[in-house]
Amino acid sequence: MTEINLDRLLVGRDEIERRVAELAEQINADYSDATTPVSIVVVLKGAVFFAMDLLRRLSIPARIDFVQASSYHGSFDSTGEVTLQKDITMAIGGTDVLLIEDIVDTGLTASWLIEHLETHRPRSIRLATLLSKPDRRRLPVHIDYTGFVIPDAFVLGYGLDFEEGYRHLPEVYVASPKS
Ligand code: IMP
Repeated sequence: MTEINLDRLLVGRDEIERRVAELAEQINADYSDATTPVSIVVVLKGAVFFAMDLLRRLSIPARIDFVQASSYHGSFDSTGEVTLQKDITMAIGGTDVLLIEDIVDTGLTASWLIEHLETHRPRSIRLATLLSKPDRRRLPVHIDYTGFVIPDAFVLGYGLDFEEGYRHLPEVYVASPKS
């Protein structure tokens, strides 16, 4: 197993809490006219921490389900291939869908998931992500709610992992392999 250095703190707890509250306020306002509950689709496993903090602040009616799809396999780079490990079981046809990601990096996972969810014919699909690395984008992705735009660096914590570890750190760190 590769050992990791946490090089520096990138986004602290207070900053995350503040930003999550702002995003929730924006989402509550944007969906205030929704006539049916919003279908929240959380991308496992990384987005769980962000989603739970965000969802606790939503005052709009919502239903929740999970998908698991990744273009990442525990290494420091994306493979470019998206695989679906777990699909939604909730019916989303005709509803407003809010997809919640941990990070949009190359954009492959988010665009693949949006295309996949569109096959269910929802009324609308919006994307929320805790982090975005625009410098790494290979596919253009429209993000409706972005927590933080970050530089091209490997990050860990608050859901983001390396080989399934470090997700439970309450803040986001820049990390690198120990040499
Ligand atoms: P994309 O398909 O390249 O946009 O990658 C999205 C997925 O890659 C995310 O959901 C993460 O699981 C993973 N990922 C991308 N960048 C990082 C990172 O810096 N740290 C940990 N995981 C990452």
